[in-house]
Amino acid sequence: MPAKGRAGKSAGVTPRFAYRRPLEQVARRTGRGYLKVFDAFLTLATCALSAGRYEALYLEEAARWERPDLEDFARAFGLLVGAMEFHPYQDLLGPTHEEWSSRGGKQIGGEFYTPTPVATMMARMALMDAELPEDRPLELLEPACGAGGLVLAAAEVLATRGEPPCRMRVTAWDVSHTAVMMCYVNLTAWGVPATVIHGNALSLEVWGAYRNPFWAMARGKYPSEAQQVCELPGALSAAEQAVVALKENGALPQPDLTLPKGPGVQVSLFGEEGY
Ligand SMILES: C[S@@+](CC[C@H](N)C(=O)[O-])C[C@H]1O[C@@H](n2cnc3c(N)ncnc32)[C@H](O)[C@@H]1O
Repeated sequence: MPAKGRAGKSAGVTPRFAYRRPLEQVARRTGRGYLKVFDAFLTLATCALSAGRYEALYLEEAARWERPDLEDFARAFGLLVGAMEFHPYQDLLGPTHEEWSSRGGKQIGGEFYTPTPVATMMARMALMDAELPEDRPLELLEPACGAGGLVLAAAEVLATRGEPPCRMRVTAWDVSHTAVMMCYVNLTAWGVPATVIHGNALSLEVWGAYRNPFWAMARGKYPSEAQQVCELPGALSAAEQAVVALKENGALPQPDLTLPKGPGVQVSLFGEEGY
């Protein structure tokens, strides 16, 4: 029996949207809009999760805010990560974007993402019984990712099949910077190998690309010997080795935007489609 007074709220569980409070404080204190504050928070969180890949972007964004704001951003990040631990593979960011982008009854610019139960149903239909390639990761394309809810649902289905998130590799696109940042944070927090492209998936214009540290860890069921060596504790990942080599040569790494070869899977309500 749960202790009296604890029904409905387990002790120690961070409420799902507690991270909004420090962000609302920043918005009130600075007079900047909620969406601007949210975008800055996501940008800083993306940099924090990127294992040092986007240091310049971090410094550029941090310079726009005062110390109390940065402290609130850090508090919000802690609350978000704490809440995520209790809600595996759930999108805790999209609902905030939906709510804050339609404040005051605004219809234009409002965002709506696929509700979690629908995303789960679609992912189960597409992936529950799908045969996974053994020699390479399952390639997934999300051309209009929003907060990445569909991909999180796919990762959850793989988890129920006993497969780790690194059994898939995701290329996600969105025209919205905020969406790109939400997707990066969501997928990276759950260890899903991903490149999230800020661009137009129809015209193929690209304004930026963010590859997470798990990209190089995506693998088939039976990883090659080279991959096993890369995954030994203390070994640098292939991506890190490439970055070190490029830095030593004085060249900055450029994101590789080529789509993976071979058939891919796009999570779709109406079945699987190659791309
Ligand atoms: C309705 S939301 C769906 C997001 C997500 N797929 C889901 O199901 O929750 C549509 C998303 O598509 C993005 N979008 C619209 N046109 C796009 C385009 N041409 N290229 C990339 N993204 C686009 C929007 O910015 C928005 O985030």
